[in-house]
Amino acid sequence: MRILGIETSCDETAAAIVEDGTKIVSNVVASSQAMHAKFGGIIPEQAAREQLASMIPVLKEAMITDFDAIAVTIGPGLIGSLLVGVETAKALALAWKKPLIPVNHLIGHIYANWLTGTPPVLPAMVLLVSGGHSELILMRDHSNIKYLGGTRDDAAGECFDKCARLLDLGYPGGPAVEKAAESVKRQALSVKLPRPMINEKNLDFSFSGLKTAVSSLYASRLTPNSKEIAYELQEAVTDVLVRKTLQAAEKYQVKSVLLAGGVAANKRLREKLQSTVYRLPTTVTLHVPPIQLCTDNAAYIASAAYFNQKTAPWQQVDANPALDLI
Ligand code: KG4
Ligand code: ZN
Repeated sequence: MRILGIETSCDETAAAIVEDGTKIVSNVVASSQAMHAKFGGIIPEQAAREQLASMIPVLKEAMITDFDAIAVTIGPGLIGSLLVGVETAKALALAWKKPLIPVNHLIGHIYANWLTGTPPVLPAMVLLVSGGHSELILMRDHSNIKYLGGTRDDAAGECFDKCARLLDLGYPGGPAVEKAAESVKRQALSVKLPRPMINEKNLDFSFSGLKTAVSSLYASRLTPNSKEIAYELQEAVTDVLVRKTLQAAEKYQVKSVLLAGGVAANKRLREKLQSTVYRLPTTVTLHVPPIQLCTDNAAYIASAAYFNQKTAPWQQVDANPALDLI
C-alpha cells in the first residue's frame, strides 16, 4: 500500500510517498528556514505564505501519481501553516476519491524509526525531543501509546533556540549550539551549568532554568565565551535526556529505545545514547533515525498513517494547532 504524506506544521512544506509504512518512494522537503534566520525566529504569516507557494511544486516533485491514500498532519503546529497542508490534502482526497488519514505530528516523528530498514521491536521507549516537546513515551503497540513524563516548562529544542539567541549564535538554535560546541575542548572548560531534575525519580524534565543560568553566565564578565557556554549547555541538556531515557527503559523493560524529533538530530545526544545503552539488557536495541528523517518531513507522516489507518471523511478533518500527543 502506498500513502502520500503531506506535512506543513511549522516552516517546512513536505510531501512523500511511502510504501507499506517502511519504504520511501519519494521524500521532498522545502524549508523557509533561511528566510526566518534573518529575523532570529519564525514569522508565522510569512511561513504560511511560503508554504502556499511551495505546496504544488513540492507535490509535483514528489511524483504523486500512484498511491492508495492521503495522510496529512493536522497538528500540533502553527495554524496558518497547518491549514495549507490540511486543505490541500482534503481537496486532493475529494478530487481523486482517495481515503484521508489525519496524523498527529508528534506521533509522526516517532515513525522515522520505521523508515530505516530495521523496524523496532515493541514495546519501545521513545524519547521525543522537538522544538515544542520533550517527552518520554511508552509504545506498547501502534495503537497503545502512553505518555510517561515530559517537560514541565520549556522543551529541549526551545531551550537550545532561546539560549542560542541569548548567546547570539543564530537560528535555529539547536544546530547553532551544536556547531559552536564543536570547537571547544572539554579539558579546557571553565563553565558549569546545572543538570535540572537529573536525580529525581520521576520522568519529567525542566529546561527553563538553564536559560536563566546561561543568561547570567554570559552576562558575567568572568565567562563571556559563548562557545564554551554552548558546549556546556549541550552537555547539560543531553545528560538529563539520556539519564531519564535509560531510567524509563529499565523501569518498563522495553525491547527497544527510539529517538525522535528535531533535537534527535543532535550528534552529541546520539553519541551519548549510543555509548550508554549497554547499561540496559543486551536484548534492548537502540534506534536512531538518520538526521534528515529526524527533522520535519512527510515520510514519517505517511508511515504513521500506514500503521494506524484511521481514515476520516474530509468534512471531519480539521487543523488543530493545540493537538495533544494522545
Ligand atoms: O521536530 P522539529 O523539526 O520541529 C518541531 O516539531 O518542533 O524540531 C525543531 C527543533 C528546534 O528547536 C531546533 O533547534 C532543534 O529541533 N534541532 C536541534 C538540532 N537540529 C534541530 N537541536 C539540537 N541539535 C540539532 N542538531
Ligand atoms: Zn516536528
